[in-house]
Amino acid sequence: MTHILHRQIDHRYPIAASGQGAVIRDAAGREYIDASGGAAVSCLGHSHPDVLAAMRAQLDTLAYAHTSFFTTQVAEELADDLVAHAPAGIGHVFFVSGGSEAVEAALKLARQYFVERGEPQRRYVIARRQSYHGITLGALAVGGREWQRQKFAPLLIETHHVSPVYEYRDRGVTETPQAYGERLADELEAKIDELGGDNVIAFVAETVVGATLGAVPAVPGYFKRVREICDRHGVLLILDEVMCGMGRTGTLHACEQDGISPDLMAIAKGLGGGYAPIGALLMQDSVFDTIADGSGAFQHSHTFMGHPLACAAALAVQRVMRRDDLLANVKAQGAYLARRLKERLGNHPFVGDVRGRGLFQGIELVADRGSKEPFDPKLKLNARLKHEAMARGLMVYPMGGTVDGVRGDHVLLAPPFIVDAALVDTIVERLGEAIDAVTARPG
Ligand SMILES: Cc1ncc(COP(=O)(O)O)c(C=O)c1O
Repeated sequence: MTHILHRQIDHRYPIAASGQGAVIRDAAGREYIDASGGAAVSCLGHSHPDVLAAMRAQLDTLAYAHTSFFTTQVAEELADDLVAHAPAGIGHVFFVSGGSEAVEAALKLARQYFVERGEPQRRYVIARRQSYHGITLGALAVGGREWQRQKFAPLLIETHHVSPVYEYRDRGVTETPQAYGERLADELEAKIDELGGDNVIAFVAETVVGATLGAVPAVPGYFKRVREICDRHGVLLILDEVMCGMGRTGTLHACEQDGISPDLMAIAKGLGGGYAPIGALLMQDSVFDTIADGSGAFQHSHTFMGHPLACAAALAVQRVMRRDDLLANVKAQGAYLARRLKERLGNHPFVGDVRGRGLFQGIELVADRGSKEPFDPKLKLNARLKHEAMARGLMVYPMGGTVDGVRGDHVLLAPPFIVDAALVDTIVERLGEAIDAVTARPG
């Protein structure tokens, strides 16, 4: 008997009792390799001594001070740290407690920016289908997972969706990746024109699509064209790097690999590595200056923003990542993971695609490799895969609806940045066995 409204009410969840490095142990003593970092959160693994020490030290001095009365040294240091390593032009940070809050803040800051610039008619947000930006009403409205939006549709703000970059399924056989990217960017520009260029607030996109498509990066040149189009129409580019950011793809920010800088960027998950709930909105000086020279206040706040304990955790995570050169490990082990996955699953009769960047890899399952026909959603293959993996002591992040929100199955891997080759081998071996088990008896 539980008094918690769990995610699945009729599911019995094991009790997570302790964690160490890449492993979580349950109350019955079973061990699970955390190959998904929960949901791409636990970038340093569990119980990292330096993060725990920094948090204890913060608790010994100050646990909480409301941001309408005080700032704190630790929040200031974290903001300095994030700005020092941010994409070009980003000079300020707004702290929140998670990814959805970061996206909400981005939407509201973007709107307030235009109001203060004397462009109050700008009201439309454009995003992409098959994306996830969070679960609160604004973030849900922007997201492109139809099944999740449907029940709440009457409560959602008007948003417009264009095609995602989904090369495996949508790039034409004779089309080059560049031409495909240009076609998609043209679609965005056509949507902006349709709505009226000076009516659009922002275009929102995950730099590498996470849970909805399964680690799908953009094709080369796509984001450069998107950046140009946004600039031409005065539309803000909001990148959601809640899942793919903070080192997960091998660079601190995923957009570094696309050669662009956004106007606003949402980060969370790996920022605090799961040691405390924290997210942040990073902003260009031009956005900050407009508000600073205008009303002087962003009309948005939360009680727990800039929480000192969460900031201490996030600052320690950033420092450990740099001290231990973990981005180099993400690149090296990410390349090794991709290679091992392709060796084990690349010719698997029910694996259509292996893709990703760094320690952010996705595997798409198909009933037929030739036609790319997905499995019947009634088979709930992704749910069964999660179960099979857990039974083998492996945490992975499978999801359904990959193709169109209903059909399709993929599994996402996001292991901690501390993995070594031996652990990668074990992850691939157990995942391979779990995929063999569910596809051997798909019905
Ligand atoms: C890309 C992206 N944006 C936003 C969110 C929402 O973050 P949170 O669950 O912390 O509110 C998520 C969560 O998975 C995400 O993957």
